[in-house]
Amino acid sequence: MDLNPDSTAAHPPVPVVEKKGAAAQLVNTLHRLQGDPLAFVKRMAREPGDLVYYRLWRQDVFLAKHPDLIRDVLVTNQHDYAKGAGLQWAKRFLGEGLLTSEGDVHTRQRRLSQPAFHRQRIGSYATVMADYAARCGEGLREGALFDMHAAMMGLTLAVAAKTMCDADVGSESAEIGEALTDVISVFPRFVLPFAGLLHRLPLPATRRFERARDRLDKVVYRMIEDRRRSGEDRGDLLSMLLMARDEDGSRMSDTQLRDEVMTLFLAGHETTANALSWTWYLLAHNPEAEVLLHEEIDTVLGGRRPVFEDLPRLRYAEMVLAESMRLYPPAWGLGRRSRHDQVLGGIAIPVDALVLMSPYLIQRDPRFFPDPLRFDPTRFTPEAKASRPKFAYFPFGGGARQCIGEPFAWMEGVLVLSTLAQRWRFRLDSTARVEPQALITLRPRRGVPMRGERRR
Ligand code: HEM
Repeated sequence: MDLNPDSTAAHPPVPVVEKKGAAAQLVNTLHRLQGDPLAFVKRMAREPGDLVYYRLWRQDVFLAKHPDLIRDVLVTNQHDYAKGAGLQWAKRFLGEGLLTSEGDVHTRQRRLSQPAFHRQRIGSYATVMADYAARCGEGLREGALFDMHAAMMGLTLAVAAKTMCDADVGSESAEIGEALTDVISVFPRFVLPFAGLLHRLPLPATRRFERARDRLDKVVYRMIEDRRRSGEDRGDLLSMLLMARDEDGSRMSDTQLRDEVMTLFLAGHETTANALSWTWYLLAHNPEAEVLLHEEIDTVLGGRRPVFEDLPRLRYAEMVLAESMRLYPPAWGLGRRSRHDQVLGGIAIPVDALVLMSPYLIQRDPRFFPDPLRFDPTRFTPEAKASRPKFAYFPFGGGARQCIGEPFAWMEGVLVLSTLAQRWRFRLDSTARVEPQALITLRPRRGVPMRGERRR
């Protein structure tokens, strides 16, 4: 690391600015940010040093490139930072849900929601995950071209609707699915770290977004009302949240419940679909890893469908998923805003500066992952993990705002991977040009065209 944490705070390093008129520069930058924010961040990362400074119009932007700096922002000094400006806009949709709330509201909501995500509790969802994955496999035709990304989006949405609201595939989940798809198609551009600038622009997509949000609101409020009336525990996340009581006996209001349900749908469904899509893509390119995965599945499961108790023995599947999220982290960039003037890695950070942290960049840094572009699941053996700084790998963030759905995501990822790979081997279509598109999540632009070959 080339920043000296003991030195007295220096002024920010020389900013990376373009030699053009300010207005032209802003328009140019906004264009690039909307089109390809990852390329923009990668370009910033080429500058020397572990903390790179960029002046974007009136916004001070710092890109942190070292795990120690990530730990400082996410854990050690987390109270000195707030969520980025983009998430402020996201409140229009997510209200005061876990992802967007701050301070005492966040602490209370997190305390109330946490029990719903304990590993044992979510263990009861394993059957849904494996059954739905098996159903997805049964819908495939050998040799037929299909879009793996669309298939994974459909699958994770069905799992989310069932486990969160006990909504079965059918009218309710179709209604949720449609409205959510509309929201997702527009939402990302408003929650980029720079959305503070973007959302002031008159974008036509805003209306479409608001209509979809109103439709979703109707469905979710109706479900909450039905549930309150029947008082029934359906074993899903909504029931858990409805029953949750704070120490003083208080419960969540309808609005809080609505905000949490929306948050879980949005935070949990596309991220997991992306992780799975990239995993199938990487396996198609790495047949040795694919063979090892098939061997593990055949040995552990012997042809039967996986259950919760199998998870500790599906170690290689978990390492494959971990390595896939190293190369293609679904949440590729996290942002924080400094609450006051402070020092990060020996550099002075002014109040309201935006600090960007990208798992995509750090997880491809050869200092922490030698030969970084090589797909190698053995980077995730316990010994290999112990040899790296903790925040060299942070696809689920860290500190008090670490992903609450992480155990859910690992479980769904491993079960879907094992259920489908037990019966199928997937090959990329020879004409496929798969490339990442970084909006709020890192998704495959134009999908992942594949064909399935039956294994058994
Ligand atoms: C592979 C899948 C997933 C990835 C990569 C992922 C990643 C993340 C990351 C990086 C954060 C922290 C954001 C920040 O600090 O700014 C986060 C937060 C969150 N995630 Fe996930 N997530 C995944 C799946 C899920 C699932 C399945 C759920 C719910 C069932 C979920 C619910 C949430 C919630 C509610 C938060 C906000 C937590 C808080 O601030 O207290 N995520 N996620």
